Amino acid sequence: MKSYTLVRGDMSSIVLFGPPGAGKGTQATAIMEKTGLPQVSTGDMLRSALSKGTKLGLEAKGYMEAGDLVPDRLILSLIEERLKEEDAKNGVLFDGFPRTILQAESLAKITKVSMVISIEVPDDNIVERIVGRRMDSETGEIYHIKFKPAPSDISDRLIQRKDDTEETVRSRLNAYHSQTAPLADYYSNLGVLEKVNGDRNIIDVTNSILELLV
Ligand code: AP5
Repeated sequence: MKSYTLVRGDMSSIVLFGPPGAGKGTQATAIMEKTGLPQVSTGDMLRSALSKGTKLGLEAKGYMEAGDLVPDRLILSLIEERLKEEDAKNGVLFDGFPRTILQAESLAKITKVSMVISIEVPDDNIVERIVGRRMDSETGEIYHIKFKPAPSDISDRLIQRKDDTEETVRSRLNAYHSQTAPLADYYSNLGVLEKVNGDRNIIDVTNSILELLV
């Protein structure tokens, strides 16, 4: 395993944790506004690499389309590069990372994690959330056909993610339960895990998260 030399003792980051469709991306905006931390979403970084046709993006493609986790070495190389950027020097808001114990252990060598916000949503609600998700292709704003409808004047800009199918969601949930959910114990043992009930409307979830950040 490659060793990571980018240790910055002054950095302190927040992790947004939870199953696919829990609302990590949705809640990231309010946290960024409150803390000033930049969002680092490995899912967004992978989709960007894929659309640019980079070697890493093409290697990740099959895993993403199948709803499997992308290998740790690819994810860690993305993170290592991203954390070298100037805006990350005081810490970041991780969204969808780490997702394996190895990713969490590698992260611990790079930056201090001050809080892990775990958005808890039962599996039964996840499929409806994911299948109904739409994204503004210009701004990246996340909508939902039922829970957060987009304004009608941007309807022609809305896109649906390729992996937002019922079948792929089931694989993503399996990956979450087998490889990612154990991280809750890992971070609970470190005393930084904060659980938030994500099975409420978007505003109520935001308010609970903001209360943690005072
Ligand atoms: P990624 O893009 O990270 O997807 P994910 O974790 O599956 O999470 P989502 O983006 O689907 O959901 P979210 O929690 O952000 O929910 P959102 O706010 O959009 O990863 C994609 C793939 O990349 C993975 O499958 C894997 O292959 C790979 N990958 C990425 N990171 C990796 C890593 N670290 N290691 C290995 N592989 C990695 O909300 C969902 C919908 O619900 C929206 O429509 C929203 O409007 C709605 N909604 C949100 N909150 C509420 C609410 N409270 N009530 C009702 N509706 C709500």
